[in-house]
Amino acid sequence: MAKNILLTGGTGFIGKHLTDLLIESGFSVSVLSRSDKKNTPAISYYKWDLTRNYIDEEAILSADYIIHLAGEGIVEKRWTKKRKKDILESRIKPIDLIFSVLKKNNKTLEGFVSASAIGIYGAITNEHICDENTPPANDFLGITCLEWESAVDKINSLGIRTVKVRTGIVLGKDEGFLKKIVPSFKAGFGAILGTGKQYVPWIHIEDLCQIYLKAIADEQMHGPYNSCVTDNTTNASLSKALAHLFGYKIWLPKAPAFILKIVLGEMSLAVLEGQRVSSEKIEKMGFEFEFTDLERALASCLN
Ligand SMILES: NC(=O)c1ccc[n+]([C@@H]2O[C@H](COP(=O)([O-])OP(=O)(O)OC[C@H]3O[C@@H](n4cnc5c(N)ncnc54)[C@H](OP(=O)(O)O)[C@@H]3O)[C@@H](O)[C@H]2O)c1
Repeated sequence: MAKNILLTGGTGFIGKHLTDLLIESGFSVSVLSRSDKKNTPAISYYKWDLTRNYIDEEAILSADYIIHLAGEGIVEKRWTKKRKKDILESRIKPIDLIFSVLKKNNKTLEGFVSASAIGIYGAITNEHICDENTPPANDFLGITCLEWESAVDKINSLGIRTVKVRTGIVLGKDEGFLKKIVPSFKAGFGAILGTGKQYVPWIHIEDLCQIYLKAIADEQMHGPYNSCVTDNTTNASLSKALAHLFGYKIWLPKAPAFILKIVLGEMSLAVLEGQRVSSEKIEKMGFEFEFTDLERALASCLN
């Protein structure tokens, strides 16, 4: 019988692509969602309501693996105190709920794979290359990712293999990061943000889904894995590559950092600062990126 993989956040950008890949790869897929959804021949939907600590326990009891992708969008709204709390709790509460169902029912899993983010290394631009041993930063994203990953460790304490996928900016057609910036580049108004020197570690959606598939299939994988290409793309090189694909050279002055700080508040750090990140650990596990050339990756998302 096909192994059942339960996705939290399976209705989102990464979740939808991953669902397709898992089904193609012969897994049976279930999705936990806050909204009512009709089952399809390939996907069973289960409901949860984190505000009421409600979960359809059958979702967990029928799962062989869980992939945790649920969480409020990190750059959707200004980082007010409430928004920061929502970003953190929407990632941790689901894990706590899953933990309590597993524990109560003495249920085990073959693996628990959770999204995390390279934001764990902090919003900082310098020449240090962060690997999985680099300590977490003491800023909002660093602390959020640390608490998120610590919640995953609770699942590990039940004797379940856990993997943390520390993701960079995910490139996909009409979705995620590109959905936000492509319209201005398409209209000829693409601009470099701040100094443009901030690093933008990226990964193509197809490669990211392959990493999740490997994290399920490869029992040697456990702990954190940086999941982005090591190519030192900066905001300036990314902006120039996008403009090039739309057939022009960037002519606008750089968008000044102080204006972005006024408009975005603390969240401006997410676009004005960025880390260099090494993907050596996942590559040593035998993972090969299909997309390592930025322009080719971007082009595949624009066609
Ligand atoms: N996309 C990127 O570039 C990127 C980069 C680094 C890390 N990541 C991480 O990867 C994960 C998936 O990213 P994504 O881009 O696929 O996100 P997404 O498109 O925003 O989807 C996230 C899903 O989480 C669920 N969700 C949203 N708010 C929630 C809440 N308050 N409580 C419970 N569930 C909630 C939603 O599912 P329902 O509406 O069905 O409940 C939604 O479909 C996230 O944790 C994200 O931080 C993404």
